Amino acid sequence: MNAGVAVIDQSSSGGSELDVRRVRECLAATGQVYVRRVPPDFDHLAQLSRLGQVVPQFDGRIVRDVTPDPAADETVHLPANTRELLAHTEWFEFPGPPPRYQALWCVRQAAGPGGETTLADGYAFVAGLPSDQVKRLAEREYTWRPTAVLARAGVAYECRHPLVEHRPEALVVRVPCDERCVDYDDLMADYIAQARSFFAGHRLAVKIEEGAVLIWDNWRMMHARTGFTDRRRHLRRLLVSAPTHDEPA
Ligand SMILES: [Fe+2]
Repeated sequence: MNAGVAVIDQSSSGGSELDVRRVRECLAATGQVYVRRVPPDFDHLAQLSRLGQVVPQFDGRIVRDVTPDPAADETVHLPANTRELLAHTEWFEFPGPPPRYQALWCVRQAAGPGGETTLADGYAFVAGLPSDQVKRLAEREYTWRPTAVLARAGVAYECRHPLVEHRPEALVVRVPCDERCVDYDDLMADYIAQARSFFAGHRLAVKIEEGAVLIWDNWRMMHARTGFTDRRRHLRRLLVSAPTHDEPA
């Protein structure tokens, strides 16, 4: 694991109670935190929902199992297969603000090489872009619709939002991993290419261990995954919205 990953050892800090204050401090400082050695009775849903309101998946499920789907196309970059994923932020195409936090924990780690979750700081990425480009990225609103897969599943919406959004609570950096935007243009193409280049040079890699939880700020951090071969790899994912006004950020 890279030295830049913030680590909390749960066995020495709180047992089955997440130290939310420390988690928030790490998230505010680095955008991510790896909580290791959580006890077997750790209630992921109850503890992680202390960070904010849990956001259901499109199908209504609260916790999503991330496992390879035998039917998934292995020729493209898909969460459901075993290939490397491209850098992105979660739900960049979703109406409204994206989930603030994403948590992944491990049920079964992939044997052999690969299967790491990778992260890079989107705030540092945007800070390194020319100011006139950031201004255009904040002003240009794009139209987004669900992927064909989601549309077939009955998900329907159309929304508009920029790639860089200055919200009262914090900056939102959206990094698409494909061309599902309706009005994709050169401004977006350049931005995605720059984001991928930054990600390649700055990513941190974490192979999440069984009994560990990786949490990151999805408004700030880009994430991806390295390819793997062990199809028994099994992670679980939870999305959490931004804290409400009366909760500390
Ligand atoms: Fe993702």
